[in-house]
Amino acid sequence: MKSILENRPALAKEVQKVAEVAGYLWQKGWAERNGGNITINITEFVDDEIKAMKPISGINSIGMVLPHLKGCYFFCKGTNKRMRDLARWPMENGSVIRILDDCASYVIIADNPVQPTSELPSHLGMHNYLIGKGSTYKAAMHTHPIELIAMSHHRPFLKKDVLTKLLWSMIPETKAFCPLGLGIVPYGLPSSLELANATIKVLADYDVVLWEKHGVCAVGQDIMDAFDQVDVLSKSAQIYINARNMGFEPEGMSEEQMHEMTVAFHLPK
Ligand code: 13P
Ligand code: ZN
Repeated sequence: MKSILENRPALAKEVQKVAEVAGYLWQKGWAERNGGNITINITEFVDDEIKAMKPISGINSIGMVLPHLKGCYFFCKGTNKRMRDLARWPMENGSVIRILDDCASYVIIADNPVQPTSELPSHLGMHNYLIGKGSTYKAAMHTHPIELIAMSHHRPFLKKDVLTKLLWSMIPETKAFCPLGLGIVPYGLPSSLELANATIKVLADYDVVLWEKHGVCAVGQDIMDAFDQVDVLSKSAQIYINARNMGFEPEGMSEEQMHEMTVAFHLPK
């Protein structure tokens, strides 16, 4: 059977980036078993031939109405599929879905009838939010970064902006590349609509969202960009934990140094 990627180099390149990032997530130790998920909005690559493709699944409900996604197409990691497998065989461990005209359901159109990730409501909710605000971001990622999850088990870190300020102060680049910081979503049942709705709310004010005792969600221009956001925050978390492991509380950059950074890099707050 012909793959949807055949003779579509631009689309194949985006899926290849997903595969590359899936490999990074596995190497980082952030993707145990089927942990984490990736979706990318591929609507810009859709031609008449793709539009005419017949569904290879029944109609599935998303569980929410997402008005900006009417007729959009996404490549999604499959539920229960491993990142390390997605890295090598993206079209066997993910699939392309079409959002139907009711904006509340989808069908799978290619290459294989792989059921999309169980976190689809959060992912599609994020894409719907991005399109709604006129963003050109096309990628959404959820992953399980060890240090950031560990920090989310400490109640004082979950207070508004405590973690953001701590992580920013570990190394100057964190604030430069993650200028809105890390928002906190209180613990919610994985794959629930409540978790999805809370995520979209917090994403309005932050670059990356931390799901208490579970993981993070990030968005970006492409999947590399979304990965970088989490990688930068995770690096800061590791520096903090390394310092604590050496037996001291790290000093962190001073208020003045942070302010100097904010001005020099024209950062928002
Ligand atoms: P899926 O295998 O359904 O993508 O779920 C993984 C996960 O991390 C759920 O939060
Ligand atoms: Zn998860």
